[in-house]
Amino acid sequence: MKPVKIGICGLGTVGSGTFNVLTRNQREISARAGTDIIIEQIGARRDNPACDTSNSNVTRDVFDVARNPEVEVVVELIGGTGIAKELVEEAIANGKHVVTANKALIAEFGNELFAKAEAKGVTIAYEAAVAGGIPIIKALREGLSANKIEWLAGIINGTGNFILTEMRDKGRDFADVLKEAQELGYAEADPTFDVEGIDAAHKLVILASIAFGMPLQFNSIFTEGISEIAPEDVVHADEFGYSIKHLGVARQSEAGVELRVHPTLIPKKRLIANVDGVMNAVLVKGDAVGPTLYYGPGAGAEPTASAVVADVVDLARTLGSGQQTTVAHLGFAAGSLQDFPILPIEEIETAYYLRMEAEDKPGVLSEVTKILSGLDISIEAVIQKEPANGASDVPLMLLTNRTQEKNLLNAVNQIEALDAIIGQVTRIRVETLG
Ligand code: HSE
Repeated sequence: MKPVKIGICGLGTVGSGTFNVLTRNQREISARAGTDIIIEQIGARRDNPACDTSNSNVTRDVFDVARNPEVEVVVELIGGTGIAKELVEEAIANGKHVVTANKALIAEFGNELFAKAEAKGVTIAYEAAVAGGIPIIKALREGLSANKIEWLAGIINGTGNFILTEMRDKGRDFADVLKEAQELGYAEADPTFDVEGIDAAHKLVILASIAFGMPLQFNSIFTEGISEIAPEDVVHADEFGYSIKHLGVARQSEAGVELRVHPTLIPKKRLIANVDGVMNAVLVKGDAVGPTLYYGPGAGAEPTASAVVADVVDLARTLGSGQQTTVAHLGFAAGSLQDFPILPIEEIETAYYLRMEAEDKPGVLSEVTKILSGLDISIEAVIQKEPANGASDVPLMLLTNRTQEKNLLNAVNQIEALDAIIGQVTRIRVETLG
């Protein structure tokens, strides 16, 4: 079969990793693809000392790659939704297939890009866009295609998980760990995407669309990051038998679809609660298979390159044999996607962890529990600490049973209005994932 010629656009962390994996594992990759894969051209504004491209055809204008008649597959590893989007549009218009690791591009513009690609008879492959090296797109679109997916929950931002783990295990400072994540190439160009949950939201939107068969709905997702997590909450969660993880949750019910990203207490006994560092994991509950867990490195040069190259191999297999890919972009045949309503966060039911500062005097706990019971919120567990030396107030932590968010907010407002409660009540959602 004739070789498949690709063009790599962007030579940052993932671009250099992709170049190195393709070069190093050439023999295995060609054997699996059934044809040779040749890097015809590289488009990069600057060289990267992490890979030796001295024998490659390098252009400083990435659009040269999208216009190069020899290139069949454009590998977009620039990131963002500016130049990357224009590049992908030009590649599609020129009849080229696209492989991308760009979750923002797929989550925000996937609907229109997939439609353009389908009209042109080309494919956009994006395994690397979600959970780095974990083949979760393939698992959902192909491996689990027999199932009605009930829900999925994932730790899908490596940087955020790395920060939470280091804070918990080593008591390290938030900013210091974030700096290390940037140096290691885990963090986004704008790291607020990692810490404020936007990166995880991009990924969850993609997973939910594939899981439930609905168009990508980035504007409807509820997003909360990890920047407000206090070290004492990590400690108290641990005392209750929970870990705090930044979790993306998508769940389908009769009423609609839950689509939310936020810090979450998870029982320590769950496997996913023990996913630490830059590792990612996605727990998927299918009605036939039951719960399944996918685990692996969620960021970094070669783990992400592993997914990029797998997409290139998939394309090369079909291109080499002259066939078209048979897997739809979102796993459901065109025309069968359904616009399920996304539930507002106030309507969603979870359990809660609450922490408040209370005056150290009799009756405060009963005032708090009275408010909760008045709203039919039952209490699962309580921890009250001794006052610190010389302090007149005490930390009070509660775990509630499940209730609707709007009911819990009502309770929090009433608790904060009590004379004996100082400042605001901290609340973190709890998922048992059972
Ligand atoms: N910034 C992302 C993360 C990179 O930390 O998970 C992989 O998408």
